[in-house]
Amino acid sequence: MYVPAVSELLDKRLVIVTGKGGVGKSTVALALGLAAAAEGRRTIVCEVSSQEHTSHVFHRARVGFHEVEMADNLWAMFRSRIFSYLTAATPGLRELVTIGKMWEVAQPDRKVKKGRKYDLVIVDAPATGAGVGFLQTPRTFANIARVGPIKAQAEALEAFIVNHRKTGAAIVALPEEMPVNETVALERQLTEEVDVAVDRVYMNALYPERFSKPDVERLESACGKTNGPLRAAYRAALSESRRAAAQREQLARLAELVRAPVRTLPFVFVPQLGVEEIRELAKGMH
Ligand SMILES: Nc1ncnc2c1ncn2[C@@H]1O[C@H](COP(=O)(O)OP(=O)(O)O)[C@@H](O)[C@H]1O
Ligand SMILES: [Mg+2]
Repeated sequence: MYVPAVSELLDKRLVIVTGKGGVGKSTVALALGLAAAAEGRRTIVCEVSSQEHTSHVFHRARVGFHEVEMADNLWAMFRSRIFSYLTAATPGLRELVTIGKMWEVAQPDRKVKKGRKYDLVIVDAPATGAGVGFLQTPRTFANIARVGPIKAQAEALEAFIVNHRKTGAAIVALPEEMPVNETVALERQLTEEVDVAVDRVYMNALYPERFSKPDVERLESACGKTNGPLRAAYRAALSESRRAAAQREQLARLAELVRAPVRTLPFVFVPQLGVEEIRELAKGMH
């Protein structure tokens, strides 16, 4: 199978970051954006999944989408609350219009007034709890609409999503049994049902392996001989080491069960990930 290097992944025009809620999609989308921007690509990260981080933007409350410059070569795009309200009435319309907007932003010759041109659009996709429906919306509309502009537009969007040279997907996973199973199923759905190229799987938040096997043996025997706070510390160390080992097993399972290359991202031990931490993660995106 053809596997693009990360710089080639970022050569695509549209990269969709997907996975279950809470796995780190927004973090990975931003890290990919920072990696691309650092390579000189004009990049925009589009958050279509939720609006929890973006309330400050809504104070401007205009209809439509807002493009905001975040750093050198890096923009972010948010959807306004009014937009959600307007499209709530027709099932699927919100998704169709959102994908249409991503597509428009990704056009090298976009015709919007004052429209910025981007080399790369990264989509922080909705959580996949409801399957891959979001990406299938264009096909659904193309099939329903027999003729006319909606059909033509939906077909153009569909053709863009399944174009493996222009559009790619990255799945974010966590090193636990169920999330690994879900990732395997998601890759299959994306590949077989949507026909989008899955170029990467990011195993996120992997604990470091701090202890060697002899270390663990020493800890175990020390644990049996000690009491009090020291014993609690040994047990905590053993518990973390077991967790790291269990994660490695899930990593091995994932690598065996998915087709796309798997890359790991470390768990970052800070109370709240900030741009600096995500910049560090971005260096390991390959
Ligand atoms: N590698 C990591 N190390 C530590 N915390 C992380 C890591 N990746 C994500 N997080 C944290 O986990 C939470 C969920 O991540 P987020 O990217 O918002 O997930 P999603 O967009 O999939 O819901 C956030 O608080 C984020 O800061
Ligand atoms: Mg998110």
